[in-house]
Amino acid sequence: MTDDRVREVRRMVENYVEPYLATPLNDAKAVKSVRYEDGHAIVEIELGFPARRYGPELAAALRELIEATEGAGTADVRVGWRVAPQSVQGSLQPLPGIANVVAIASGKGGVGKSTTAANLALALALEGARVGLLDADIYGPSQPRMMGLQGVRPVSRDGRRLEPLEAHGVKVISIGFLIEEEQPMVWRGPMVTQALTQLLSDTNWGELDYLLVDMPPGTGDIQLTLSQRVPVSGAVIVTTPQDIALLDARKGLRMFQKVAIPVLGVIENMSTHVCSKCGHEEPIFGAGGGERMAAQYGVALLGQLPLDIRIREETDAGHPTVIADPDGPVGRAYLEAARRTAARLSMHGAVPAPRISVEET
Ligand SMILES: Nc1ncnc2c1ncn2[C@@H]1O[C@H](COP(=O)(O)OP(=O)(O)OP(=O)(O)O)[C@@H](O)[C@H]1O
Ligand SMILES: [Mg+2]
Repeated sequence: MTDDRVREVRRMVENYVEPYLATPLNDAKAVKSVRYEDGHAIVEIELGFPARRYGPELAAALRELIEATEGAGTADVRVGWRVAPQSVQGSLQPLPGIANVVAIASGKGGVGKSTTAANLALALALEGARVGLLDADIYGPSQPRMMGLQGVRPVSRDGRRLEPLEAHGVKVISIGFLIEEEQPMVWRGPMVTQALTQLLSDTNWGELDYLLVDMPPGTGDIQLTLSQRVPVSGAVIVTTPQDIALLDARKGLRMFQKVAIPVLGVIENMSTHVCSKCGHEEPIFGAGGGERMAAQYGVALLGQLPLDIRIREETDAGHPTVIADPDGPVGRAYLEAARRTAARLSMHGAVPAPRISVEET
């Protein structure tokens, strides 16, 4: 009798399609145990992505599902999580202490990479992960301003490695901390990649679940060299819906595929315009571009963010939306994009390889 109930509850939980993984929990090997104690179902789930805020939501959804089943009785669902390191490209070795390096990239400048990187990093931290953010945009570093760390200088305690600065629970390093903001960078490609790889390895990051890299815009030598030298477990492509930005985003996407870095998905930024006066939302750049691109390359659409003056104001003032208003519609959209990104990353090896259709541009 109890065995039947255990089997039935296990089947139900294993088949539950978790929205951020977009697969049944069983495919993510997330169901740890199902048992009955004193007529009460006890279910233990372990997700591969951080879920300090989300865990209780998932637990409630599963409890409701079980308790709505006749004869299942009451249920106690416990959701835990553990971020595992995922493999990196080629013959590179993972960085010590850093479970996953995730590149935030785009083919084109000004599409909102840095804004997205800052908010994703903060969202992962809000979910309980240990997060670092490396501003790799040597020509136009934005993270000191976006993370509210302008004018602060990192120090070295041991004379060898830099201590990262910390903002809202995220460890941050940027070339912007080491140069004056007005100072033009006249370095050429090889110097830039050298400086960046050094900044990455000479920072005392400690133990991190995720290190997000805010990549410089474009798909030139610097980006290519970086994506060959830095051990990355996944990339996120940021794009706006205009066709031209999409063409560039495709180049970015293909660059990662070429160096065998899995593209976790696409984030469409400035998808719709939200009127600051009346709140009306309009797709001024055309609708569905990110969705089409994601479908064409067989990758996920991880999120869609509106063009909203508050995103610019909050992020440029050093209080990105995830910190300023985590439970507002935009804050939630970033949180959801972060969960999808981390969930996809946790499924490495389990997801079928993307179908790549190559086109020349
Ligand atoms: N969804 C949005 N709504 C409103 N403003 C935004 C949005 N996303 C980004 N911005 C603003 O647009 C500007 C450019 O964004 P950001 O610096 O993040 O782009 P980027 O792709 O990193 O640019 P670059 O290529 O120069 O590194 C910033 O002022 C930012 O605040
Ligand atoms: Mg930027």
